[in-house]
Amino acid sequence: MPRYELDGQVAIVTGAGRGIGRATALRLAREGASVIVADINEANAKGVVEEIESTTGIAHPVTVDVTIKSDTERMVSETVAAFGKLDILVNNAGIAIIASLMDTDEAAWDTLMNVNARGVLFCSQAAARQMIAQGNGGRIINNASGAGKVAPGKRTPLGAYAASKHAVVALTKQFGLELSPHEILVNCVCPGIVDTPMWDLIDREIAQLEGAPVGSVKARAVAGIPVGRIQQPEDVANLIAYLASSDASYTTAQALNVSGGMLPY
Ligand SMILES: NC(=O)c1ccc[n+]([C@@H]2O[C@H](COP(=O)([O-])OP(=O)(O)OC[C@H]3O[C@@H](n4cnc5c(N)ncnc54)[C@H](O)[C@@H]3O)[C@@H](O)[C@H]2O)c1
Repeated sequence: MPRYELDGQVAIVTGAGRGIGRATALRLAREGASVIVADINEANAKGVVEEIESTTGIAHPVTVDVTIKSDTERMVSETVAAFGKLDILVNNAGIAIIASLMDTDEAAWDTLMNVNARGVLFCSQAAARQMIAQGNGGRIINNASGAGKVAPGKRTPLGAYAASKHAVVALTKQFGLELSPHEILVNCVCPGIVDTPMWDLIDREIAQLEGAPVGSVKARAVAGIPVGRIQQPEDVANLIAYLASSDASYTTAQALNVSGGMLPY
C-alpha cells in the first residue's frame, strides 16, 4: 500500500536494473512517483520498467554509466525530456571487488572509486543543477553501506570498497550542507548484508579464497545479524521511500543505518 504520497514526483534510481535499485524503483513507483530506471545494463533497466508498467506505475529506462560525467548529464536531460522535471535522485549504482588491501591493485582501486564515489559526485551535481534551476528543492539519497562507517573486518576483504563507501558518507554530509540553502536534502542509507547478486558474488569469491563451500561466507555473515535474518532489498527501499517523503523534511546530511542492528553507530 502507498504510504508516502509521492504522486507527481519524478525520481531517478541509478543501478535500478536489479537488487536494491530494482526494489527502490518499484517502491517509489508504487508511492506514485514517475521513475527513471537508470542502469548500465540496458536489458535489465527495460525489464524493470516493464515490471513497473505492468502494475500501472510510470517509468522510463535510461542507459547510463555513472562513471562518465557526460552520461550523468544526459541521464538528467532525458529525465526532464520524459517527465518535465526532477525531484528525487537515488544514487544506488555500486560495485564490490574482493581483495585484501595488500592485494588491491590500481585497476581495482580506480574502478571501485569511479563507480561508487565519482559516480555519486557527478550524478549529484547534474541532478542538483536541475533541482536548483527548478527552485523547489529536492532529495538526493545515496546508497552507502555499513562499510561506509566501519571496517569490514579481517575475514572480509572489502577494504577498498569500504574506502569508497566512506567517501559516499562524506559526499552525503558535505553535499547536504552545501545544498541546504536550496532546500535540497541529502542523506544516505547504510545497509548491512542484503540478499542480492552483489552478496552472492562476495560469498562466492571469499569462499574461493578460503577454500570453503559456496554459501558458507554468507551464512557466517548472517549469523552476526542481531535481528536474525538476512536483509531484503525491500528493507532498504522502505528507508529510501521514507527519506524521499515529506515526513523526512527536517533530515539532511545524515547517514542512516538499516542493518538489522549490525551497525553500532
Ligand atoms: N548487497 C548488499 O549487501 C549491500 C549492502 C550495503 C550497500 N550496498 C550498496 O547498495 C547498492 C546496490 O547494491 P546491490 O546489492 O543491489 O548490487 P547489485 O550488484 O545487485 O546491483 C547493482 C546495479 O548497479 C548497476 N551498475 C553497476 N555499475 C554501474 C555503472 N557504472 N553505471 C550504472 N549502473 C551500474 C548494475 O548493472 C546493477 O544493476 C550498491 O551501491 C551497494 O554498494 C549493498
